[in-house]
Amino acid sequence: MSYPTKPRVLIPRAEIDDVVTRLAAEISRDYRDKNLLMLGILKGAFVFMADLVRRLDFPLEVEFIRLSSYSSGQQTQGSVKVVQGLRRNLKGRHVLIVEDIVDTGITLSFLIDYLKKKKASSVRLCALTDKVSRRRVPVEIDYKGLTVPDKFLVGYGLDFNEQYRNLPDICVLED
Ligand code: PRP
Repeated sequence: MSYPTKPRVLIPRAEIDDVVTRLAAEISRDYRDKNLLMLGILKGAFVFMADLVRRLDFPLEVEFIRLSSYSSGQQTQGSVKVVQGLRRNLKGRHVLIVEDIVDTGITLSFLIDYLKKKKASSVRLCALTDKVSRRRVPVEIDYKGLTVPDKFLVGYGLDFNEQYRNLPDICVLED
């Protein structure tokens, strides 16, 4: 079986690797003694999270939350749903959100509010990519990988209609 739409490599795996290494160094500097709780947003962040945590050599915990803001297709909806919530008590914890992409900012601004209500000691955001030209809601990215263009991106966890998440590079779909 082949892909219906051809993916073109935008950010090759070697470049992603360098970015993840840099982000891990920044996170290590700030969280080594903080009993860090890393919170990945499913599904897109699963690949980035897996690579990032393996570069951190201090005690930490990993949790996931599943949010949904896109319908099937390429348009962002204005509302966010918690599809699978947290079972962990966040009170007093230092939480680092791990996200594959910030687009309109709607998902992250919702999540940061949601986590603050759960009385985490601190909430910061690590995002591998930032599609800043699409922002509708301001979001502070504490650990930022790369700024990306306003193109439909797939691979390294990013999907189109649930396909392409397994590509090792970040790609653009070409018609
Ligand atoms: C993507 C991405 C972010 C969100 C960003 O997830 O992983 O969570 O959209 O968009 P926003 O800044 O416009 O809110 P998506 O809802 O596509 O789900 P997925 O992670 O399961 O692919």
